[in-house]
Amino acid sequence: MSLRVAQLADVAAIVALVNGYAADSVMLPITSDRVVLAIEDFVVAVDARGRMRGCGALKEYSPSLAEVASLAVQRDAHGSGLGKRIVAELEALARMRGIEELFALTMTAGFFQSAGYAIAERTRYPEKIRRDCSSCARRFGCAEVCVARVLRTSTMDCAA
Ligand SMILES: CC(C)(COP(=O)(O)OP(=O)(O)OC[C@H]1O[C@@H](n2cnc3c(N)ncnc32)[C@H](O)[C@@H]1OP(=O)(O)O)[C@@H](O)C(=O)NCCC(=O)NCCS
Repeated sequence: MSLRVAQLADVAAIVALVNGYAADSVMLPITSDRVVLAIEDFVVAVDARGRMRGCGALKEYSPSLAEVASLAVQRDAHGSGLGKRIVAELEALARMRGIEELFALTMTAGFFQSAGYAIAERTRYPEKIRRDCSSCARRFGCAEVCVARVLRTSTMDCAA
């Protein structure tokens, strides 16, 4: 299994995977147009036969803050550590871009906690609330939990 930044040839598989879960109300749906526009923000896991087995994306809100979004693994690959590997790859991409903090809104908080994320107040991320939550049909009965992880210690922490 190899992980890499997505290419335009991956768009259809990403949309099919994410929208399969969206149909079960586990994730928000995504369109091909949005994936094409953000293709460099997507990471995919591809098996030896070239099949896309999982994906995830960084959604940037500021130079230092991004959301882990569109994270999904094919059902028959669940529990094999792939989700964790995709998150680690997104964190590496975030570090390369100078992003210091990642958050996610999720119904699988346990997964993120096992990947080093802590439960956080979603009010810490008003940009997310403005961009997505305010117009979401489930905003008054949202079951998602906010999780976050700081990727870097500040230079002051290092000096201490
Ligand atoms: C959530 C998801 C990406 C996890 O992928 P995965 O490849 O099955 O996860 P991993 O095998 O890497 O699991 C890593 C750890 O998380 C735990 N975990 C996995 N899914 C979990 C869940 N739903 N709830 C709690 N813990 C979970 C595993 O037990 C494992 O723990 P360990 O490291 O202590 O052994 C996958 O289940 C998925 O695609 N779900 C549907 C879409 C979805 O909910 N996406 C998240 C949107 S934010």
